[in-house]
Amino acid sequence: MEFIQHDAPLSGSIKDIDLNDFISNQAKTNIIKFVDNNLVVLIKNQFINEYKLKEFSNFFGELDPPGPNPYGINFLPEHPEINVISNVKNSKGIPIGNLGDGEATWHADMTYLKKPPKYGILYAVEVPKNQGNTHFANMYKAYDNLPNNLKKIIDDKIIIHDSSHNSAGMLRKGFEKVSRPDLTPGAHHPAVITNPHTNKKRLFLGRRPNAYILGLRINESEKLLNDIWHYATTDEVTWTQNWEVGDLLIWKNLYVLHKRDAFDPNSRRIMHRTQIKGNDNLN
Ligand SMILES: [Fe+2]
Repeated sequence: MEFIQHDAPLSGSIKDIDLNDFISNQAKTNIIKFVDNNLVVLIKNQFINEYKLKEFSNFFGELDPPGPNPYGINFLPEHPEINVISNVKNSKGIPIGNLGDGEATWHADMTYLKKPPKYGILYAVEVPKNQGNTHFANMYKAYDNLPNNLKKIIDDKIIIHDSSHNSAGMLRKGFEKVSRPDLTPGAHHPAVITNPHTNKKRLFLGRRPNAYILGLRINESEKLLNDIWHYATTDEVTWTQNWEVGDLLIWKNLYVLHKRDAFDPNSRRIMHRTQIKGNDNLN
Protein backbone atom coordinates (compact mmCIF):
# COMPACT_ATOMS: atom_id res chain seq x y z
CA MET A 1 0.00 0.00 0.00
CA GLU A 2 1.39 3.40 -0.99
CA PHE A 3 0.11 6.77 0.29
CA ILE A 4 0.61 9.75 -2.04
CA GLN A 5 -0.26 13.31 -1.07
CA HIS A 6 -1.40 15.31 -4.09
CA ASP A 7 0.21 18.64 -4.94
CA ALA A 8 -3.11 20.39 -4.21
CA PRO A 9 -4.87 22.32 -1.40
CA LEU A 10 -6.33 18.99 -0.23
CA SER A 11 -6.47 15.29 -1.28
CA GLY A 12 -4.26 12.25 -1.76
CA SER A 13 -4.26 8.80 -3.33
CA ILE A 14 -3.75 5.28 -2.02
CA LYS A 15 -2.09 2.90 -4.49
CA ASP A 16 -1.25 -0.81 -4.47
CA ILE A 17 -4.40 -1.81 -2.64
CA ASP A 18 -7.24 -4.15 -3.65
CA LEU A 19 -10.29 -3.81 -1.43
CA ASN A 20 -11.28 -7.40 -2.26
CA ASP A 21 -8.19 -8.55 -0.29
CA PHE A 22 -7.92 -8.90 3.50
CA ILE A 23 -7.03 -5.54 5.07
CA SER A 24 -5.24 -5.67 8.45
CA ASN A 25 -6.23 -3.50 11.41
CA GLN A 26 -2.94 -1.62 11.11
CA ALA A 27 -3.65 -0.92 7.42
CA LYS A 28 -7.18 0.28 8.32
CA THR A 29 -5.73 2.67 10.92
CA ASN A 30 -3.27 4.02 8.35
CA ILE A 31 -6.02 4.54 5.77
CA ILE A 32 -8.24 6.42 8.24
CA LYS A 33 -5.32 8.63 9.33
CA PHE A 34 -4.45 9.42 5.71
CA VAL A 35 -8.07 10.40 4.98
CA ASP A 36 -8.23 12.53 8.14
CA ASN A 37 -5.02 14.35 7.20
CA ASN A 38 -5.81 14.94 3.52
CA LEU A 39 -9.63 15.35 3.75
CA VAL A 40 -10.27 13.67 0.35
CA VAL A 41 -8.66 10.41 -0.78
CA LEU A 42 -8.86 8.62 -4.12
CA ILE A 43 -8.38 4.86 -4.58
CA LYS A 44 -8.41 3.89 -8.25
CA ASN A 45 -9.09 0.56 -10.00
CA GLN A 46 -11.38 -1.00 -7.42
CA PHE A 47 -13.88 -3.56 -8.68
CA ILE A 48 -16.02 -4.35 -5.67
CA ASN A 49 -19.61 -5.45 -5.05
CA GLU A 50 -22.12 -3.79 -2.70
CA TYR A 51 -21.05 -5.97 0.25
CA LYS A 52 -17.39 -4.98 -0.15
CA LEU A 53 -18.34 -1.30 -0.48
CA LYS A 54 -20.21 -1.51 2.84
CA GLU A 55 -17.34 -3.46 4.45
CA PHE A 56 -14.80 -0.81 3.39
CA SER A 57 -17.14 2.03 4.46
CA ASN A 58 -17.40 0.40 7.90
CA PHE A 59 -13.67 1.05 8.47
CA PHE A 60 -14.70 4.66 9.13
CA GLY A 61 -17.64 3.95 11.47
CA GLU A 62 -21.30 3.03 11.44
CA LEU A 63 -23.17 3.45 8.16
CA ASP A 64 -25.73 6.27 8.03
CA PRO A 65 -28.70 5.66 5.69
CA PRO A 66 -29.21 8.10 2.78
CA GLY A 67 -31.39 11.19 3.22
CA PRO A 68 -34.88 11.33 1.68
CA ASN A 69 -34.86 11.53 -2.13
CA PRO A 70 -37.53 13.26 -4.26
CA TYR A 71 -39.04 9.87 -5.26
CA GLY A 72 -39.41 8.51 -1.71
CA ILE A 73 -37.98 5.09 -2.63
CA ASN A 74 -34.99 2.89 -1.75
CA PHE A 75 -32.87 2.70 -4.89
CA LEU A 76 -31.21 -0.59 -3.80
CA PRO A 77 -33.84 -2.35 -1.63
CA GLU A 78 -31.34 -5.11 -0.66
CA HIS A 79 -28.76 -2.52 0.40
CA PRO A 80 -30.75 0.36 1.91
CA GLU A 81 -27.53 1.86 3.36
CA ILE A 82 -26.27 2.48 -0.19
CA ASN A 83 -27.55 5.49 -2.10
CA VAL A 84 -27.48 5.50 -5.90
CA ILE A 85 -26.48 8.72 -7.67
CA SER A 86 -27.53 8.37 -11.29
CA ASN A 87 -29.29 9.92 -14.28
CA VAL A 88 -30.29 6.49 -15.67
CA LYS A 89 -33.98 5.51 -15.88
CA ASN A 90 -35.33 1.96 -15.97
CA SER A 91 -37.57 0.56 -18.73
CA LYS A 92 -40.64 2.12 -17.04
CA GLY A 93 -39.00 5.57 -17.09
CA ILE A 94 -38.38 5.57 -13.31
CA PRO A 95 -34.98 6.93 -12.15
CA ILE A 96 -32.67 4.24 -10.71
CA GLY A 97 -30.88 6.94 -8.67
CA ASN A 98 -30.82 10.49 -7.40
CA LEU A 99 -29.63 13.95 -8.62
CA GLY A 100 -30.18 13.55 -12.40
CA ASP A 101 -27.59 14.97 -14.82
CA GLY A 102 -27.50 18.65 -13.82
CA GLU A 103 -25.01 20.57 -11.75
CA ALA A 104 -25.02 19.87 -8.00
CA THR A 105 -24.01 23.15 -6.37
CA TRP A 106 -21.42 23.46 -3.56
CA HIS A 107 -22.53 21.72 -0.37
CA ALA A 108 -21.64 19.33 2.42
CA ASP A 109 -23.96 16.33 2.72
CA MET A 110 -26.99 16.41 5.03
CA THR A 111 -25.74 19.23 7.25
CA TYR A 112 -29.41 20.16 7.68
CA LEU A 113 -29.36 17.46 10.39
CA LYS A 114 -28.10 18.01 13.94
CA LYS A 115 -25.61 15.15 13.47
CA PRO A 116 -24.66 15.12 9.79
CA PRO A 117 -22.54 12.25 8.39
CA LYS A 118 -18.81 12.65 9.00
CA TYR A 119 -17.48 10.75 5.97
CA GLY A 120 -18.87 10.38 2.46
CA ILE A 121 -17.81 7.56 0.12
CA LEU A 122 -18.54 7.51 -3.61
CA TYR A 123 -17.79 4.62 -5.96
CA ALA A 124 -17.89 4.96 -9.77
CA VAL A 125 -19.79 2.04 -11.35
CA GLU A 126 -20.39 3.66 -14.76
CA VAL A 127 -19.24 7.17 -15.77
CA PRO A 128 -19.02 9.29 -18.95
CA LYS A 129 -15.46 10.36 -19.81
CA ASN A 130 -14.27 13.82 -18.69
CA GLN A 131 -17.72 14.93 -17.52
CA GLY A 132 -19.56 15.23 -14.23
CA ASN A 133 -16.34 16.07 -12.36
CA THR A 134 -16.59 16.49 -8.58
CA HIS A 135 -14.80 19.45 -6.99
CA PHE A 136 -13.76 19.66 -3.33
CA ALA A 137 -12.90 22.73 -1.24
CA ASN A 138 -10.77 22.72 1.93
CA MET A 139 -12.64 24.57 4.70
CA TYR A 140 -9.50 25.11 6.83
CA LYS A 141 -7.87 26.96 3.93
CA ALA A 142 -11.10 28.82 3.17
CA TYR A 143 -11.16 30.15 6.74
CA ASP A 144 -7.46 31.04 6.63
CA ASN A 145 -8.05 33.06 3.44
CA LEU A 146 -10.78 35.23 4.98
CA PRO A 147 -9.75 38.84 5.65
CA ASN A 148 -9.39 39.47 9.41
CA ASN A 149 -12.52 41.64 9.62
CA LEU A 150 -14.64 38.85 8.13
CA LYS A 151 -13.07 36.28 10.48
CA LYS A 152 -14.06 38.46 13.42
CA ILE A 153 -17.65 38.93 12.22
CA ILE A 154 -18.29 35.28 11.31
CA ASP A 155 -16.49 33.64 14.28
CA ASP A 156 -19.49 33.47 16.63
CA LYS A 157 -22.33 33.29 14.09
CA ILE A 158 -24.86 30.48 13.70
CA ILE A 159 -26.15 29.41 10.26
CA ILE A 160 -29.41 27.66 9.36
CA HIS A 161 -28.75 24.77 6.93
CA ASP A 162 -31.67 24.21 4.56
CA SER A 163 -33.31 20.78 4.70
CA SER A 164 -35.97 21.40 2.04
CA HIS A 165 -33.90 21.08 -1.16
CA ASN A 166 -31.23 18.65 -2.32
CA SER A 167 -27.94 19.75 -3.90
CA ALA A 168 -29.49 19.59 -7.37
CA GLY A 169 -32.04 22.19 -6.19
CA MET A 170 -34.92 19.67 -6.18
CA LEU A 171 -37.51 19.87 -3.41
CA ARG A 172 -37.24 16.86 -1.09
CA LYS A 173 -40.37 14.76 -0.57
CA GLY A 174 -42.61 16.26 2.13
CA PHE A 175 -41.13 19.80 2.04
CA GLU A 176 -42.45 23.13 0.80
CA LYS A 177 -40.50 25.81 -1.06
CA VAL A 178 -38.73 28.30 1.25
CA SER A 179 -40.37 31.75 1.06
CA ARG A 180 -37.90 33.66 3.31
CA PRO A 181 -34.39 32.53 4.35
CA ASP A 182 -35.08 33.28 8.04
CA LEU A 183 -37.92 30.71 7.88
CA THR A 184 -35.68 28.01 6.36
CA PRO A 185 -36.23 24.58 7.96
CA GLY A 186 -33.05 22.75 9.05
CA ALA A 187 -30.36 22.42 11.72
CA HIS A 188 -28.55 25.39 13.27
CA HIS A 189 -24.76 25.03 13.26
CA PRO A 190 -21.80 27.29 14.14
CA ALA A 191 -20.32 28.99 11.06
CA VAL A 192 -16.79 28.36 12.37
CA ILE A 193 -15.63 25.16 14.11
CA THR A 194 -12.41 24.79 16.10
CA ASN A 195 -10.63 21.43 16.03
CA PRO A 196 -10.24 20.52 19.73
CA HIS A 197 -6.90 18.74 19.09
CA THR A 198 -5.14 21.35 16.97
CA ASN A 199 -7.14 24.54 17.73
CA LYS A 200 -7.32 25.11 13.97
CA LYS A 201 -10.48 26.82 12.75
CA ARG A 202 -12.52 25.93 9.70
CA LEU A 203 -15.65 27.26 8.00
CA PHE A 204 -18.81 25.17 8.21
CA LEU A 205 -21.24 26.44 5.58
CA GLY A 206 -23.39 23.54 4.37
CA ARG A 207 -24.95 25.09 1.30
CA ARG A 208 -25.68 28.61 0.09
CA PRO A 209 -29.32 28.46 -1.17
CA ASN A 210 -31.78 29.42 1.62
CA ALA A 211 -28.99 29.72 4.22
CA TYR A 212 -29.50 32.32 6.94
CA ILE A 213 -27.33 33.75 9.71
CA LEU A 214 -29.30 33.92 12.97
CA GLY A 215 -29.90 37.36 14.47
CA LEU A 216 -29.23 39.36 11.28
CA ARG A 217 -31.66 41.15 8.98
CA ILE A 218 -32.24 39.11 5.83
CA ASN A 219 -30.28 41.56 3.65
CA GLU A 220 -27.36 41.64 6.15
CA SER A 221 -27.32 37.86 6.30
CA GLU A 222 -27.36 37.59 2.49
CA LYS A 223 -24.44 40.03 2.16
CA LEU A 224 -22.31 38.38 4.84
CA LEU A 225 -22.97 34.91 3.41
CA ASN A 226 -22.05 36.09 -0.10
CA ASP A 227 -18.82 37.65 1.24
CA ILE A 228 -17.85 34.46 3.08
CA TRP A 229 -18.82 32.13 0.21
CA HIS A 230 -16.59 34.13 -2.13
CA TYR A 231 -13.56 32.84 -0.18
CA ALA A 232 -14.92 29.34 0.42
CA THR A 233 -14.63 27.98 -3.11
CA THR A 234 -11.75 29.78 -4.88
CA ASP A 235 -9.25 27.79 -7.00
CA GLU A 236 -6.75 28.34 -4.20
CA VAL A 237 -8.66 25.95 -1.90
CA THR A 238 -10.07 23.37 -4.35
CA TRP A 239 -9.16 20.09 -6.05
CA THR A 240 -11.06 18.30 -8.84
CA GLN A 241 -11.81 14.60 -9.31
CA ASN A 242 -12.18 13.52 -12.95
CA TRP A 243 -14.00 10.17 -12.66
CA GLU A 244 -13.06 6.82 -14.17
CA VAL A 245 -14.85 3.52 -13.60
CA GLY A 246 -13.48 1.80 -10.46
CA ASP A 247 -12.62 5.09 -8.69
CA LEU A 248 -13.48 5.13 -5.00
CA LEU A 249 -13.40 8.45 -3.19
CA ILE A 250 -13.61 9.09 0.56
CA TRP A 251 -14.02 12.57 2.02
CA LYS A 252 -14.40 14.18 5.42
CA ASN A 253 -17.85 15.60 4.89
CA LEU A 254 -17.72 18.23 7.65
CA TYR A 255 -14.30 19.61 6.62
CA VAL A 256 -14.86 20.18 2.91
CA LEU A 257 -17.50 21.35 0.46
CA HIS A 258 -18.12 19.49 -2.78
CA LYS A 259 -19.98 20.12 -6.03
CA ARG A 260 -20.62 18.22 -9.23
CA ASP A 261 -20.52 19.50 -12.81
CA ALA A 262 -23.42 18.78 -15.14
CA PHE A 263 -22.90 16.08 -17.78
CA ASP A 264 -24.41 14.95 -21.10
CA PRO A 265 -28.01 13.81 -20.36
CA ASN A 266 -27.64 11.14 -23.06
CA SER A 267 -24.70 9.53 -21.29
CA ARG A 268 -24.98 7.05 -18.40
CA ARG A 269 -23.55 7.74 -14.96
CA ILE A 270 -24.06 5.38 -12.01
CA MET A 271 -22.37 5.94 -8.65
CA HIS A 272 -22.82 4.01 -5.40
CA ARG A 273 -22.66 6.09 -2.29
CA THR A 274 -22.33 5.42 1.44
CA GLN A 275 -21.83 7.68 4.42
CA ILE A 276 -20.77 7.36 8.05
CA LYS A 277 -22.73 8.55 11.09
CA GLY A 278 -21.50 11.76 12.68
CA ASN A 279 -21.74 13.00 16.25
CA ASP A 280 -22.70 16.12 18.22
CA ASN A 281 -19.38 17.94 18.08
CA LEU A 282 -19.15 18.05 14.25
CA ASN A 283 -15.57 16.75 14.31
FE1 LIG B 1 -23.17 15.61 -2.01
